[in-house]
Amino acid sequence: MSLPVPSRRIAQHRTYLMCRPDHFTVSYSINPWMEPAKPTDTALALRQWQALHDVYVALGHDVRLVDAVPGLPDMVYTANGGFLIDGVAYGPKFRFAERAGEAEPFMAWFAANGYRVAEPVEVNEGEGDFLLVGDTILAGTGFRSTGDSHREVGEVFGREVVSLTLVDPRFYHLDTAIAVLDPVEGADGVERANIAYLPSAFDADSRAILEERFPDAILVSDADGDVFGLNSASDGLNVLISPRATGFEAQLRERGYNPILIDLSELLLGGGGIKCCTLELRSERQNAS
Ligand code: ARG
Repeated sequence: MSLPVPSRRIAQHRTYLMCRPDHFTVSYSINPWMEPAKPTDTALALRQWQALHDVYVALGHDVRLVDAVPGLPDMVYTANGGFLIDGVAYGPKFRFAERAGEAEPFMAWFAANGYRVAEPVEVNEGEGDFLLVGDTILAGTGFRSTGDSHREVGEVFGREVVSLTLVDPRFYHLDTAIAVLDPVEGADGVERANIAYLPSAFDADSRAILEERFPDAILVSDADGDVFGLNSASDGLNVLISPRATGFEAQLRERGYNPILIDLSELLLGGGGIKCCTLELRSERQNAS
């Protein structure tokens, strides 16, 4: 079955920060996907990462790179390196000691590249747990970022924050359970910002909030969630997803998106996927009215 592609989907230009997995391995376990006893293939991780990078470039997006630091194998997951809106970088404060050393190189990169840096007091893992949807910040808690960081991120950016609680340890960051598809409002001013999400990853209160705020959301099956289908990146038209998320792929096509399949199987050994390897650098005011 194929439905006509609505012409209203528009790809928006993005600037992303990525980090080559030069030192990728799984030497510790801080999420259920990580099994240090299982061998990893750094060369394969690099090839898969490069394919993601090259698709972003081919789509016309700007990709900036932060240098990988030896001994910090999770630095490839740049989504956790901060949360940026309007040229302000709210820094990360990692939950686990294994990743604490990443905060400094990320913050140094932001400062050196013209972003105003907001030092965090509260534990938070950046865009892994904070997703900008229209003018609202969806904020995850339960495993990594704390509720106090939700208050703090609201103070830093002066925006509405909606707290959501994750309950399944496999989906420990918000970006493993929600994909932001249309980050802006419709031309008529009505909030059309749309998302896809994995209902089973949330507690009942959070599911009720999502149902109320996003009645048109794509509800993704557990089978597609289990292969990290939600951990995807959209520019409003093109949605980069795991090739194993076949049901989600069909749902996206029906809604007029253009799914692009990118296999990051090696990086999934560290518990990360497409979105985890991608941090959006928002330098100008977003959605200014
Ligand atoms: N090994 C990393 C960790 O457990 C993976 C981070 C995935 N990042 C993300 N944005 N979901 O912290």
